[in-house]
Amino acid sequence: MQKINLFLLLILSFFACQNAQPEKIIDLEPIALIPQPVSLVKNEGYFQIDGNTKISGSEIFSKEIDLWSSLFENKLNGSKQSTEGNEINFISKNEIEHESGYEIKILPDQLVVYAKSAKGIFYATQTLRQLNQNGTFPCVEIKDQPRFSYRGMHLDVARHFFDVDDVKKYIDLLAYHKFNRFHWHLTEDQGWRIEIKKYPKLQEIAAYRKETLIGHYSDQPHQFDGKKYGGFYTQEEIKEVVKYAQDRHITIIPEIEMPGHSQAVLAAYPEFGCVDKKYEVATKWGVFEDVYCPKEETFQFLEDVLTEVMALFPSKYIHIGGDECPKTQWKESALCQQLIREKGLKDEHGLQSYFIGRMEQFLNKNGRQIIGWDEILEGGLAPNATVMSWRGEEGGIEAAKQKHDVVMTPTTYCYLDYYQSQNEAEPLAIGGFLPLKKVYNYEPIPEELTAEEAQYILGVQGNVWTEYMPTMEQVFYMAYPRACALAEVGWSPKSTKDYAGFTKRLMPHLKRLQALGIEPANHLFEVKMEVEAGTGEGVFVNISNESGIGELHFSTNGTAPTMDALIFEKPIKIDENTTLSTQAFVKGQPQGQVKTMTFDWHKAAGKKIEFTHLPHPKYSGNGIGSVVNGVQGSSERYGDAEWLGFDGKNAEMVIDFGKVETFNSLKMRFFKGEGQWIYLPKDITVSISENGEKFQSVVSKNGIETDGKIAETTIKLDATKGRFLKIKATNFGIIPDGAQGAGNRAWLFLDEVVVE
Ligand code: ACM
Repeated sequence: MQKINLFLLLILSFFACQNAQPEKIIDLEPIALIPQPVSLVKNEGYFQIDGNTKISGSEIFSKEIDLWSSLFENKLNGSKQSTEGNEINFISKNEIEHESGYEIKILPDQLVVYAKSAKGIFYATQTLRQLNQNGTFPCVEIKDQPRFSYRGMHLDVARHFFDVDDVKKYIDLLAYHKFNRFHWHLTEDQGWRIEIKKYPKLQEIAAYRKETLIGHYSDQPHQFDGKKYGGFYTQEEIKEVVKYAQDRHITIIPEIEMPGHSQAVLAAYPEFGCVDKKYEVATKWGVFEDVYCPKEETFQFLEDVLTEVMALFPSKYIHIGGDECPKTQWKESALCQQLIREKGLKDEHGLQSYFIGRMEQFLNKNGRQIIGWDEILEGGLAPNATVMSWRGEEGGIEAAKQKHDVVMTPTTYCYLDYYQSQNEAEPLAIGGFLPLKKVYNYEPIPEELTAEEAQYILGVQGNVWTEYMPTMEQVFYMAYPRACALAEVGWSPKSTKDYAGFTKRLMPHLKRLQALGIEPANHLFEVKMEVEAGTGEGVFVNISNESGIGELHFSTNGTAPTMDALIFEKPIKIDENTTLSTQAFVKGQPQGQVKTMTFDWHKAAGKKIEFTHLPHPKYSGNGIGSVVNGVQGSSERYGDAEWLGFDGKNAEMVIDFGKVETFNSLKMRFFKGEGQWIYLPKDITVSISENGEKFQSVVSKNGIETDGKIAETTIKLDATKGRFLKIKATNFGIIPDGAQGAGNRAWLFLDEVVVE
């Protein structure tokens, strides 16, 4: 397309329809903007771009208008000046208070956009993109501005590498949702991804690993693909991406990890490590002991690297990592211990603080600021540091109380690498469970903060770690639509929060994303079955779906429910072997997938259960009754509603059968994932009572083992009689040296306790 000249009043013929008649107005979807603007008033009628539409705009907005106009390129038939027809005006309006604010007023013959700055115009054009229906725009009045100044998305390009085109597409999508920060995670144990001219071995050695782990880290034994993997961005490519982002009002924050997560560098330059050994670029995931040694040579190296980084990235912030740095090598290093004494530091945490503090001094001297993961609080925060609170909100709260700026990105709400659905068919992911609704309902300002402290919360960021995302398609599948929810958390006023409204807007929005060439996840009609049990009253099932839209039909005979099947209205009672199937219907049409749950009835199902120690709140299933509800947990994942997880504690329970029963056997299942600190129990003991007070030990079992993830064990009870059954599965205890999580308490996970 011929470059649009906006230096004068710009008159452009859009959508050069050969005849002057407007196209037939299509049926519009309801107005569905994401993120939701501050205020939106819908009026009657439409504005339609036609061959005579004139666009005018002030010169300072030329880039933004060009970029927007270029989206209609394929509809243009050359530019034709005209003095007739309707108009689009982009007008500078200083009265708009917010730098990023804008107003849109659409009338049948005029579409006007007001903003104070080019940024505001850019955001307005993103809104117009979402209002556009083939050149037709509904008459609306919109006033809008962001809630938070920092609205970020992160991408890890080290675990898996994505080329420049993919990264640009990622940035495009961020712009479409009014994000304004792209946190580019460029270095890791598994690969270094940015060309540094002074250190060529970073490109030759650190950018490549010899092979990659296949499957999940918890799958034992580990297997590898045997294929060399890697790549890096040249400095020219980086400049191109930085410019691309700038044009979309997105600042790229580069992350150069230190002092941990740097094994790839040590493979290239072992002299920056504390241990004299041959290092290699990591081929599996996790936290590694091989970290930078705080020697003068290391600091010189990092300053050289950051000098080149600063020349490429104009961002005020440079992210220096700071997370997950094991201190074992520092504890054993004479140099580190000497440095601790010499600098009067308390311990290795003090040494990490010293490390980060030095890098901050260097960056501050060069006019930049550091931002780091919340571990940079340990041992004392560097004077001007901004904290990214990821292990929870506590780090952010502490930093804000210390008057440091904070970006909230806690795992529980912002880790878009976690599973978004409990559907077994989901692509392999790292673990966890973070559904769309939970992301949407995140409130970044913690209640603990005063109004003054709350001002240090700059905003929110979604993180996309790519261990289990080898392609950009998968990155988009994991990130969207959860990033849409996060965009709304960052942009929209708290007062507009309304999950049901969001899901309604999301439906047409998902189609827009598809039209932009990405395939987002769609769990809107995924049915959730929640089973209530454990009180002695029986087993009841509640059914709901993500969107809350439509009717939920169900059957109990194993066939898929039809339109004629029963509609869910109140909890369904289960008291025998049952296959419950359900699906959402909207206007007579089935939506999403059929969800099925199988109940295998046994003597303990629906009975009362009590535990001596409650499971950890994060892994408490659907309450403690989850283990006596007739439903088995997933054989792949311990995060579903059927598994209970005990953090360092025994799983000790008493089941009350209500009357004296004869017990023939007890069957239990345990999850094993030692990489995730989950161990099998040391032993199980069973005792029986008639009155719930005096228990008699009947059997114990040890040596529970499995080669896979699930250990299933059956204990014979030999027709013993009683009313109460006490079962204790003893926690493994402290994780041994050499294993992931060594020195920490092991987790114990169990699901259905089947009594026959
Ligand atoms: C992190 O997820 N290690 C910051």
